[in-house]
Amino acid sequence: MDLTDKTRILITAALPYANGRLHIGHIAGAYLPADEAVRFFRLRGKEVHFVCGSDENGAPITFTALKEGVSPQDIVDRYHRLLGEAFAGMGIRFDVYGRTHTPNHDRVTQDFFLRLYERGHIVKKTGEQVYCLACRRFLPDRYIEGICHHPDCRAPGARGDQCEKCGRPVDATRLIDPECMICKTLGREARGHIEIRATEHWFFQLEGFSGRLREYLDAHPEWRESVKRFSYGLLDQGLKERGITRDMDWGVPVPLPEGEGKVLYVWFDAPIGYITFTREYFESKGIPGAWKDFWGDPAAGLVHFIGKDNTVFHAVIFPGMLAAHGDYRLADAVVANEFLNLEGDKISTSRDYAVWVDEYLASFPADPLRYYLTAIAPETADADFAWKQFQQRNNGELADNLGNFIQRTLAFCNKYFAGRAPEGAEIGPAGRALLGEIGEARRELSGLLGSFRFKAALERLMRLSQRGNQYFAEEEPWKSRRSDPAACAGTMFVGLKLVEALGIFMAPFLPEAAERVREFLNLPPLGPGDWDAPSRLEGGHPLRESRVLFPKLEDSAIQPHIDKLAKKR
Ligand code: MF3
Ligand code: ZN
Repeated sequence: MDLTDKTRILITAALPYANGRLHIGHIAGAYLPADEAVRFFRLRGKEVHFVCGSDENGAPITFTALKEGVSPQDIVDRYHRLLGEAFAGMGIRFDVYGRTHTPNHDRVTQDFFLRLYERGHIVKKTGEQVYCLACRRFLPDRYIEGICHHPDCRAPGARGDQCEKCGRPVDATRLIDPECMICKTLGREARGHIEIRATEHWFFQLEGFSGRLREYLDAHPEWRESVKRFSYGLLDQGLKERGITRDMDWGVPVPLPEGEGKVLYVWFDAPIGYITFTREYFESKGIPGAWKDFWGDPAAGLVHFIGKDNTVFHAVIFPGMLAAHGDYRLADAVVANEFLNLEGDKISTSRDYAVWVDEYLASFPADPLRYYLTAIAPETADADFAWKQFQQRNNGELADNLGNFIQRTLAFCNKYFAGRAPEGAEIGPAGRALLGEIGEARRELSGLLGSFRFKAALERLMRLSQRGNQYFAEEEPWKSRRSDPAACAGTMFVGLKLVEALGIFMAPFLPEAAERVREFLNLPPLGPGDWDAPSRLEGGHPLRESRVLFPKLEDSAIQPHIDKLAKKR
């Protein structure tokens, strides 16, 4: 995934279902790393476009509507708005945040379907489906639950599409002791009137692309191990055709006369949403053809950020769909994170065992959470969010290391150098070494961020800041201020250069704090290319008043959040 040579990059983040609020698991999984990549590539001077939107079709939406007793449209309207607010609050800034329940997305998806259909990659078959006599309708996906039919699992509460327990796909007609979830939700008898009925559906002939997909994976040895292992595993087991229609009335209508009363499966239309939104975005910018530069031409970069439960769709099925269509290139990288747990337990939205973004933001600013979630990023293994650790890392690392270095440097210059970058500085060997290390850190950070190793990059950043604190401890500018003013000026000048560099290097992770640092330094806001730009600080440069960047978090601010979770266990 060498994106270093690409000057234009399109980055997508998985479309969240518009049926619930955003929690820290979502943020850590896809959105924060995607946003960090976008910010990094922009600082490096690349043209980057960041695409996301709400996933508004499918059974997840209609099922939530049923449970809440409102219409699916009410659900998606409400959550589309809430999701947008939560992303904005976290500083995750998409260039376009679209939605899939629109006539335009219907059209784009239907055209895509018809192209595959005309090329013979989609065929109609009669199959068996679960039907509820009381509801007089078929029960796709999560509308039916029962005991998992996999002999080595047999977990209760397996859904018609997937068993949460064993993670494998489920054949709804084989569920043991099935229950209609509509009847159950409405308080009716949920068993006893379920039968298996024949119904016609359309199937995408994915197996025909096995060879092409294997070549695709082979071309990307640099992808994360987990994505490769999982995808090769699927190919080795043999790909099967995929049912891509459902007997439902909410979603993208099947664009064929015999498709009356049926819609496309949400996992068919949702990834096409990336294309729809890219088109809508460039149309709104007055360059309607530009979307093709990213979806048709491999000269530009294309990267998908997702959580690991979406891997099959992004690394295998969607690429298969794109290959079947023929006009599209495949993504350079599919970046998937593992899961985030919470205080040692699985996050559960239904049990309200989660840290919701809006709840978090009511108590704290975004940057400390961005910091902690990057510091523990589940890049290669599941990670655990713990409130106490969040507090410790904020106080011990953000405040005591990074914030402290920036604050003490600026305060010293403001106090003893009349609010200016020192002039007549004599920079000693230690200072020159530290200046050299800034360049070294820049190169290392570029390598790490460019290959999506955000956690290691953050560690590198913090090591550089730690070096700054060490340097002061060794140089003791508070002593040389009297004994050797030129040396003191040199120390503080180097310190300011490091503050400037840290302010740039922290920007992908800590965008708000990075903005503050620019203000303290009296420098213009960061812009394209500033990552590699020469320092703008010269002797005599006027500084501004600085404030504490990362306030410490008190026990009293953390405890209510711990208590809330303890009650939900
Ligand atoms: N809505 C899905 C989820 O939350 C993700 C859809 S990603 C897309 O798991 F590619 F389909 F858009
Ligand atoms: Zn029913």
